Amino acid sequence: MKERLAKKFDLSGKTCIVTGGAQGLGLAMARAVADAGADIILADINQPLAEQSAASIAKDSGVRACAIQTDVTKEDSVNHLVEEAMARFGHLDCLINNAGICVHEDAENMAYADWFKVVDVNLNGVFLMSKAVGRQMLAAGKGTIVNISSMSAIIVNTPQGQCAYNASKAGVMHLTKSLGTEWARKGVRVNTIAPGYMRTDMTASIFAEGGDMVKTWMAMSPTDRPGEPEELGPLAVYLLSDASSFVNASVFTVDGGYTAW
Ligand SMILES: NC(=O)c1ccc[n+]([C@@H]2O[C@H](COP(=O)([O-])OP(=O)(O)OC[C@H]3O[C@@H](n4cnc5c(N)ncnc54)[C@H](O)[C@@H]3O)[C@@H](O)[C@H]2O)c1
Repeated sequence: MKERLAKKFDLSGKTCIVTGGAQGLGLAMARAVADAGADIILADINQPLAEQSAASIAKDSGVRACAIQTDVTKEDSVNHLVEEAMARFGHLDCLINNAGICVHEDAENMAYADWFKVVDVNLNGVFLMSKAVGRQMLAAGKGTIVNISSMSAIIVNTPQGQCAYNASKAGVMHLTKSLGTEWARKGVRVNTIAPGYMRTDMTASIFAEGGDMVKTWMAMSPTDRPGEPEELGPLAVYLLSDASSFVNASVFTVDGGYTAW
């Protein structure tokens, strides 16, 4: 790649928070963002694993990387993360709102507590994080946010029931458009990546088991395989960097063509 193009993707000197970055898609994107030069803060409830992952990123990419324990559903915890991150790094340039959970249950049997927890992590957490980090970005007059929604924001998965997940991810997609349009003239861009079925800890046991559900998923996917976490990283780098300077309030599906059928 020519240097002038590579420079547009360069994140050197920037600081990026990745929620739920201890493992899975968050970790894979954090690795890609670190490879593009940014310092990394992993904000996860699983602090021991996040610390291990941060150490591994620092070793492999040569950037500063740390873990600050965070529960994205708790405003105090989110505010503490931002204070601590500002104290350690002095500026916050990029945010990946990735922390998310899923419960498979038919709507008529779903406990309200399960519905609430899924919406709380997946949607309320994105709002709390965007508000707290967004205030720092708005004060600086620049920043880029990538929210991880899901193809479940666009289609309804089958055969499993997961109404809370689908509704929460549709909320993330529209929240992205709200934030992206509210903040565009203040220098902050907000976009969303909508992955299809990816092979991570969230789905590992389901793919390992195989069975009818996985067969249905793959029969409905033109590409006939799950995505690998590493297949999201380059798009995250693009959306966080100056390479995407005119891209805002938009949705990017990475699903092997699933939503086209
Ligand atoms: N795996 C897929 O097929 C797939 C598809 C589409 C979208 N997604 C989305 O991508 C994101 C990452 O998924 P994954 O498969 O890597 O999941 P994962 O379960 O492997 O990792 C999720 C991470 O989030 C952390 N986390 C959970 N609750 C948290 C909270 N309250 N505060 C902070 N951290 C918390 C967990 O500790 C974990 O490290 C999620 O938002 C998920 O909905 C995943």
